[in-house]
Amino acid sequence: MSVIEDIKSASDRCNGKFYVVPAFWHAYSFNTENIGGYIDHFDLKGKSLLTVGSSGEQVINAHLKGAKDITLFDACPFAKYYTWLKIAAIISLSYEEYIAYFMYHTSKVCGTGTNIYRFNKNLFEKISPVLKVLDHESYYFWSEMYKKVRETSSLRFLFKDEEKRAKVIKGYSLYLDNEENYLKAKKAIRNISFKYVRGNLFSDSVTGCFDNVFLSNSCTNYSPQELLLLIKKLEDNLKIDGRMLFAYLYEVDFDNNDDSNLMYCMSFVKEYFKDYLDEHYQVKTAKEILWNNERDKKDLILVHHKK
Ligand SMILES: C[S@@+](CC[C@H](N)C(=O)[O-])C[C@H]1O[C@@H](n2cnc3c(N)ncnc32)[C@H](O)[C@@H]1O
Repeated sequence: MSVIEDIKSASDRCNGKFYVVPAFWHAYSFNTENIGGYIDHFDLKGKSLLTVGSSGEQVINAHLKGAKDITLFDACPFAKYYTWLKIAAIISLSYEEYIAYFMYHTSKVCGTGTNIYRFNKNLFEKISPVLKVLDHESYYFWSEMYKKVRETSSLRFLFKDEEKRAKVIKGYSLYLDNEENYLKAKKAIRNISFKYVRGNLFSDSVTGCFDNVFLSNSCTNYSPQELLLLIKKLEDNLKIDGRMLFAYLYEVDFDNNDDSNLMYCMSFVKEYFKDYLDEHYQVKTAKEILWNNERDKKDLILVHHKK
């Protein structure tokens, strides 16, 4: 698919032409997992990373932790354009402007829920000169989208807003939790580079050998059988002491044995993934971030350590 075809399908959709939307077509507006909560469990400084994540947040946060050779492998056609848009926006916009431009809810800007400044054209005019220099194809995609969509607010149809709450989104990230960190990120982001591969992890070949692999919470879309196949496949792309985050699970104890959802039934998971489940870590949940308190239930990441 070329950028021209991507613009056509994206603008058609935003202008209300409905057709069957392929799997993974929508980008995630922000991460749906607490990246800031787990990222320090991985050694990223100077190390390589293969990650999914159409929100671009895995790429940005890993870069801020010093990752050097980052590949974003994602089936979403807009993942690259959106990631570069965010990077250019961090460089060009103030903290408040960035929040107003990207977030669905910003309680400060608009109390009623939906943020009327989202994808505001004036803010895009501030981002676009930097975007043009960073990645011309992404600049072309977004510039054409602004020309072609009838209303800028309909750009939201490109996204899944699964995590809408501004406070949670801020708490999930290293650079959004407060203005000071955002200002530090502005400097650190300038030398970012990443490779984008559009493909399906199951059916397309994955090239390269990585110190770290992040599969985000994709496991919730797959059966355990599919996930096991994927882990076995990506094992070949892990360096000898490499580590793979193969599951991010929400609000579950490591000894939960309720078997209504197999991926959340830990007796099953421990047995089924026994050759690959080497480490697990608890992560602060969205509710804990939202209400500023500790809760019994934590999110859980499952990690394979190749060595
Ligand atoms: C469950 S979503 C979670 C979104 C994620 N938290 C983020 O920040 O973008 C997983 C991401 O992986 C991508 N993805 C899922 N399965 C994939 C596959 N088989 N091949 C390539 N990308 C995939 C989706 O397009 C999406 O961007």
